[in-house]
Amino acid sequence: MSEETFYVTTPIYYVNDVPHIGHVYTTVAADVIARYMRSLGKPVIFLTGTDEHGQKVEQAARERGLSPQEHCDEMVVRFQQLWRRFNISNDDFIRTTEDRHTAVVKHFLNELHSRGDIYRSTYDGWYCIPDERFWTEKDLAGGKCPDCGREVVQIEEANYFFRMSKYQDWLLSYIEDNPDFIRPDSRRNEMLGFLRRPLEDLCISRPKSRLHWGVEIPFDTDYVTYVWFDALINYVTAPGFTTNEDRFQSFWKNCTHLIGKDILTTHTIYWPTMLRGIDLAPPRRVFAHGWWTVEGRKMSKSIGNVVEPNLLLDEYGADSIRYFILREVPFGLDGDFSHAALVGRINSDLANDLGNLLQRSLGMLDRYRSGSVPASPGDGALGDLTRGLIDHAARTVDEVHGHMEQLAFDRALKSVWDFIGGANKYIDSAAPWTLLKEGKESKLDVVLYCLFETIRQVAVMICPFMPETGHRMFRQLGIADRKELHQISSLKPWGALPGGTRTFRGPALFPRIEHLPEIAMGVGEPADGEKGEGESMPEDEKNRTKARRQTDAHDDLITIEEFAKVQLVAGKVLEAEKVEKSKKLLRLLVDTGEERQLVAGIAEHYDPEDLVGKVIAVVVNLQPATLMGVESRGMLLAAEDKNGIHVLTFREDVEPGTRIK
Ligand code: MSP
Repeated sequence: MSEETFYVTTPIYYVNDVPHIGHVYTTVAADVIARYMRSLGKPVIFLTGTDEHGQKVEQAARERGLSPQEHCDEMVVRFQQLWRRFNISNDDFIRTTEDRHTAVVKHFLNELHSRGDIYRSTYDGWYCIPDERFWTEKDLAGGKCPDCGREVVQIEEANYFFRMSKYQDWLLSYIEDNPDFIRPDSRRNEMLGFLRRPLEDLCISRPKSRLHWGVEIPFDTDYVTYVWFDALINYVTAPGFTTNEDRFQSFWKNCTHLIGKDILTTHTIYWPTMLRGIDLAPPRRVFAHGWWTVEGRKMSKSIGNVVEPNLLLDEYGADSIRYFILREVPFGLDGDFSHAALVGRINSDLANDLGNLLQRSLGMLDRYRSGSVPASPGDGALGDLTRGLIDHAARTVDEVHGHMEQLAFDRALKSVWDFIGGANKYIDSAAPWTLLKEGKESKLDVVLYCLFETIRQVAVMICPFMPETGHRMFRQLGIADRKELHQISSLKPWGALPGGTRTFRGPALFPRIEHLPEIAMGVGEPADGEKGEGESMPEDEKNRTKARRQTDAHDDLITIEEFAKVQLVAGKVLEAEKVEKSKKLLRLLVDTGEERQLVAGIAEHYDPEDLVGKVIAVVVNLQPATLMGVESRGMLLAAEDKNGIHVLTFREDVEPGTRIK
C-alpha cells in the first residue's frame, strides 16, 4: 500500500455540447484509473466538469431567451446525469462559472500581470469566430481556420497578451528531459516538432464590445478572459490552489490529464507555460487518446451518426459499453465504434468467457458442496495444475498493474481475459465431476476453493472497469459486505477468500445478444436530404447495411419457445413513490407472487397514489438494473404515444403472480 496520491482529470466539456461517445470515452477511462488507484489504497482525486464561458454559450442563451448562467445551469445537468448512469465516481465536478474558479483565474491574471508576463498590444490578424481563436497568416490552411476549416475574418484590436514566447526554450528542454510528460510518444514528437518553430505570445483577452460572458480581466474591466486561458486553470482550482495549499501540493505533483488528441497544444504548450509563469510545475503527465469514428465514418451531426450515449445505455447497459471502449482500441490510437463489434465483444468475452466461468462454477459448488466454499488448502495439498493456476493469478495481478500505470487499458483487460481463459481450462483439466465420481473428496475441495478464489480475483480486477458486474459477482460470491476482499491490495498473497463462504446463484451476468438491436440500423447513412462531408457511403457498405436490415426483418419473427423465455406475470402495486432527485422515475413495490421492487420512467405521467392497488403486467426475469441508485428487479409494460405513457393494467382483480401467456 502506498500513501502516494493520484490525481486524474478529464477535459471540462463545453456545456453547450450534446454528450457523445468521445466525452464518454475520456470520462470512463478516467473513472477506471481512479477506481483502480483507490483499490490500491491511494488517496485519489478524480475531477471532471464543464467549460461554460465564451461566445457560443452567450449566443445560445440569447437564442433561448435565457441568461447565460440560466442556460448553463440547465445544460450542465445532461452531463451530470449521464455520468451517474455510467457509474462515474468523480470526486469533484467543476464548472468554470463557479466563484471558486473565477477567483483563481483572476489570481493567475494578477500574478502574471504584476510579473510583467501580461502586456497590452494591438492584435492584427485572423480570427475564427466559431472556434474563438486567433491565427497568424502562416497558420491558415488555404486561407481557412487550420483547426475547423471554416472561414476566418481579419481583425485589428487592442488586447492583452501572455508572454508565452519567453518560455519556449524552457518548455522544449522540459519535454526532452521528461519523456513521460506527453504520452504516447507520437504526440510527444508532434509537440517537439511544433516547438521547433518560434512560439508566439498568446492573446488572452476579448473586448466586452464583442463578448461579455467570461471572467472579467481584473486590471481592465473592459475585457474578459479568453475561454481557453480560463478553462485550463480549472485543473488547479479544484484541488485547492490558493485555498487549500497542502491538499493542492500533495495532489498536483501526481496529476494526469486525460485529453483527446485535438486539444494537445492547449494542454502541453499553453498550460505548462502559464503554470511556469507563476512558478508552478507542469502536471506529471498529459495523455492524449485517439478519436472514434462510427461504423467507419467520422462522427458528425450532418451525417446523423453521432452516437447518443443514453440510447446505448438503454440498449446495452453501462458495463458492456465501458468494457468495449477500453478493450477494443489501444488508448492513444483511433478506433471505430460499431454495434456489431460491441455485440461481438458482449457475446464472446462477457457472456461466454466470463459469464460461463461464473455460472458453471456456481452450479458445481451448489451441486457438490451445497453452495459453500471449502476451506483454503494448505501448500502441500496443491498439485501442479493448481500451482499453475495460482502462478497465473500472481502474474496477472502484476501485468495488470504494469499496464494500468501506462494507461494501457486494453492490455490490462487482455491479461485478465487470458486468466479467465486459464480458469476455464483449469476446470476442463481438473474435471471436478470425475473427482466426485471417483470419491476424491479432498482433491475436489482444493479445486473448488481455487476456482472460487480465482473468480474473486477476476471480480476484483474487473471491478474498476465494470463496477456493477464486479459488485454482482461479489454478491454471488457471498462477499458483498467484505469490502476488504474487493481491493486490488487483497489479491496478494493468494487465498484471502475465507472457507465456508456461502455463494448465491443469480441470473447470467451477460445474456447473449442474438440480433443487432434496432438502434444499430441506419447508423452511417446520411440523414434525408443531407450529405456527409463530401463523402458518400461506399456501395458495398450500402449493400451490407441493406442485407443486414432484410435479414433482421425476417428475424423479427420469433418462435413460441422464444416468447416463453419472457416471464410475464400479473402484479399488484403495493407502494409507489418518486425516486429522489429524479424527474422521471417512480419506485414501485409490486406483489408478483413475491414482493418485488421496480423502477419505472413514468413519474411525469402518473401520480404515485393513482397506481397503488392497480394490477399491472410485469416482466420478472429481466436482469436487475440500478437506476439513480435504486435497484429495479423487472419491468412493467406500457405503451407510449403522443399523449404520453399508458401503463398496461387489468380490469379484473387478477391474482398476483399469475403467468401472462
Ligand atoms: N472545453 C474544451 C476542453 C477544455 S479542457 C481545459 C473542449 N471540450 S469538448 O467538449 O469539445 O471536447 C472534449 C473532448 O472530447 C476532447 O478531449 C475531444 O478530444 C473529445 N472528443 C470529441 N470528439 C471525439 C471523438 N469522436 N472521439 C474521441 N474523443 C473525441 O474541447
